[in-house]
Amino acid sequence: MTIAGRVPRRGRALSRLGIIRDGAVLVHEGTIAAVGTTAKLEKLAAARKAEKLDVGGRVILPGFVDSHTHLIHAASRAEEYELKIRGASYEEIARKGGGILNSVKKLRAATSEQLRRRANAALEIFAAHGTTTIEAKSGYGLDVASELKILSLHKELGAAQPIEIVSTFLGAHVVPPEFRAKAEGPSEYVKLLTDWLIPEVAANGLAEYCDVFCDRGAFSRAQSKQILAAGWENSLVPRLHAEQLTHTGATQLAVELGAASCDHLEQVNGTDIRALAKSNTVATLLPGCDFHLGLKQYAPARKLIDAGAIVGLATDYNPGTSPTASMPMVLSLACTQLRMTPAEAIVAATYNAAYSLGRHKRIGSIEVGKQADLAVFEVEDYREIPYYFGVNTCWLTLKSGRVIYAAI
Ligand code: NIG
Ligand code: FE
Repeated sequence: MTIAGRVPRRGRALSRLGIIRDGAVLVHEGTIAAVGTTAKLEKLAAARKAEKLDVGGRVILPGFVDSHTHLIHAASRAEEYELKIRGASYEEIARKGGGILNSVKKLRAATSEQLRRRANAALEIFAAHGTTTIEAKSGYGLDVASELKILSLHKELGAAQPIEIVSTFLGAHVVPPEFRAKAEGPSEYVKLLTDWLIPEVAANGLAEYCDVFCDRGAFSRAQSKQILAAGWENSLVPRLHAEQLTHTGATQLAVELGAASCDHLEQVNGTDIRALAKSNTVATLLPGCDFHLGLKQYAPARKLIDAGAIVGLATDYNPGTSPTASMPMVLSLACTQLRMTPAEAIVAATYNAAYSLGRHKRIGSIEVGKQADLAVFEVEDYREIPYYFGVNTCWLTLKSGRVIYAAI
């Protein structure tokens, strides 16, 4: 399927896949040179000279664009997973110094080499599930040196392996431990971000986006506004973790600031939905979090789609709430829990996600002139991609026309 089109998909358009039966793609120097039926493409002189890769009736889609990940972290939090199963909530664990602070402690103690090794292993898993581009957030360092170390790793890994990495600065994940002791600590940390770290990150070209975790136990709406405004002044485009655990008004803020994406949205209300629908801010849903945390309240995807918001999907790959790099698993959850159709889920995970990263002119669909980022699935019908869950049906992944994963 091509997902061809020029604008982000809203409402009914979210399910337009642009299916070509018995289709073929002609690639020249990493770029798509032609798309159409095999019969049509075989007639092209350039196709007759090209090296052939027979995918034998399988389903081809644009590589998934995973627009929300926390790629760099030092270790899992399996110990907290068990505590949660036994009844402790995510916020209770965080209040006791676990949660994000647990990962911060582990990251600060890790070497760049350890972090690189873990990230590289994860990147191979992303590729093995059909993902060709990811966004990656810092946010487990929370001091100058550690945050810069994470962002530098984004750059280094982006250059050293095939998956494109879009870097986001999330220094405002939570207030770090050393700023928690006194009352003015949190505002001093916000000042460190706005006056020092954000300009430093921007000056060194270490991020394109600036994100804030706006929620109870993290940053308030007012603090988030201050931080994202400082980001904007330094040409970092805002994204926001919004309305995940509680309703804070972060969605309204995201729309007001012209954020590229507003993510999570489990707690959004009608006013937020209408505001998103009127905006170009992508409503990025992360059902892996609710699944992993065992929560019942998923984001109201149907209401968002029906109102006309640009809905996207991502894994939120991270050690605390969503330890998965599998977009097909996210698609399965989108279908069963968010009641999105398989077609809607696929468009949300490709074109709309690419739009949220400002890359929809280059990736996110299979069209002439676009980068040949493709994922081939071992299925006969595209609906089988979310239908099979807990198994990997990805058969082949190509980045700029080059095979980066093959199942056999
Ligand atoms: O997207 N909500 C904030 N950040 C992550 C979780 C981070 C963690 O628990 O380590 C999220 O869910
Ligand atoms: Fe996140």
